[in-house]
Amino acid sequence: MDFSTKAFDSTKAGQAGLANAKTECLVVGVFEQQPLAGLAKALDVVSKGLLARMVKRGELDGKLGSTLMLHEVAGWSQARVLFVGLGREDQFSPKGFNEAARAAARAVLASRASDAIWTLPQAAVAKRDTAWAVCASILALREATYRFTQMKSKAEPANTALRKVLFAVAPEDLKAAKVAARHGEAIANGMALTKDLGNLPGNVCTPTYLADTARKLAREFKLKADILGPKQIEALKMGSFLSVARGSVQPPQFIVLKYEGGAAKQAPIVLVGKGVTFDSGGISIKPGEGMDEMKYDMCGAASVLGTMRAVAEMGLKLNVIAIVPATENMPGGRATKPGDVVTSMSGQTIEVLNTDAEGRLILCDALTYAERFKPAAVIDVATLTGACIIALGHVNTGLFSKSDALADELLAAGRTAGDTAWRLPVEEEYQEQLKSNFADMANIGGRPAGSVTAACFLSRFTEKYEWAHLDIAGTAWKSGAAKGATGRPVPLLTQFLIDREAR
Ligand code: BES
Ligand code: MN
Ligand code: ZN
Repeated sequence: MDFSTKAFDSTKAGQAGLANAKTECLVVGVFEQQPLAGLAKALDVVSKGLLARMVKRGELDGKLGSTLMLHEVAGWSQARVLFVGLGREDQFSPKGFNEAARAAARAVLASRASDAIWTLPQAAVAKRDTAWAVCASILALREATYRFTQMKSKAEPANTALRKVLFAVAPEDLKAAKVAARHGEAIANGMALTKDLGNLPGNVCTPTYLADTARKLAREFKLKADILGPKQIEALKMGSFLSVARGSVQPPQFIVLKYEGGAAKQAPIVLVGKGVTFDSGGISIKPGEGMDEMKYDMCGAASVLGTMRAVAEMGLKLNVIAIVPATENMPGGRATKPGDVVTSMSGQTIEVLNTDAEGRLILCDALTYAERFKPAAVIDVATLTGACIIALGHVNTGLFSKSDALADELLAAGRTAGDTAWRLPVEEEYQEQLKSNFADMANIGGRPAGSVTAACFLSRFTEKYEWAHLDIAGTAWKSGAAKGATGRPVPLLTQFLIDREAR
């Protein structure tokens, strides 16, 4: 889909010009309980009061998320005009805008229109600017068009005829809107990569496949890829990471991908993504029901790679490094057993009481590896605990950090991007639950506060830098009829990096 931006001024004459614009579908926002204004008013005038009569009859009520498509109205220049309800103007929020944009995207896509002029960013949203609205609109449109058909034997026809969308913005917003459109597309492309990797089955998306994806990104976007195989991982003494890979016939891969958009001396942001391409639980095997969804256990890795793609496409002036420990977690004759003690790269020993708590075992060595980059901050992203779904459901990502400043930055980025997180504690008091009689620590802390003790485990490997942990177990994919990867938290992470570039 092709996106562009054009200036139309908000004066009466400007809106009349927009009302005359040629397009197969003009998308117009209308507020609830309010006289027709702006573009809707201009259209009403040329249609000799048609809209006013529809408002009176209650056909056009502006209720948030409602849509009404009118075809070939006498006097109008467009084949179709789509009216989108924005709700009450005094309550119009970023969430409301996103809801309206999603509804509008569904309606335009369902029509046969091949192009559209999208004017929703002209409706002012409290605490957000036009550029934000352009970016959010692109994400809504791309979300509605995304499909995963790679594994179908026959090509499926596209689900829409829509090819071109033009954003109509005020002249003073044009420059920022153009940047926002570029950013929106880059984020959407990153999210699509993240979704594709997540949706691919475990027999295709193996650790080697993730490594090849990183190599391809490096080639396409001039990044540097360093991929370490089993021998090199062993040489680094990543005993904890390797203990997870032991049961699998797929060789583990340790992926390092570097984007150098900042000055050489500028400390990088390091993103670490959990890349368990299938989590059977290992010897502590999971129950069969729903086990297929454990192909999504590499969504942390996928979101980190998707973010790298977005950052590279945006050309941010920052240094960003992605680290992905990738492996399967499988049972087998060589697999790690409950009670085994392993030595991490940091030298700390770990008693593996449950082989299904494998995410932290691979992340801890990646977090130790990250020290060598003297990072400005390290953020790890992982489908780490089922307990996080119990705590926060599918709405918020779990955020853990000992740094209030970093936590606040990530929370704010999530709010801006509409990809929110909620902070949970990493406090000393919980560390006790990880005590082991036989090693420096156990890899599980019992059922109470399962997500917190997982974060506490990771914190023991992050003393040398500013660190935050995102538990995306509840937000990375959807179950049920709409089963599929969501692309989260790519919007949060890219927004965080955009904000870092600006500060
Ligand atoms: N990948 C899972 C976490 C998970 C489970 C994510 C369900 C999404 C849905 C992780 O490796 C795991 O198995 N965690 C265990 C930890 C437990 C053994 C302490 C869990 O959450 O049950
Ligand atoms: Mn597990
Ligand atoms: Zn897992």
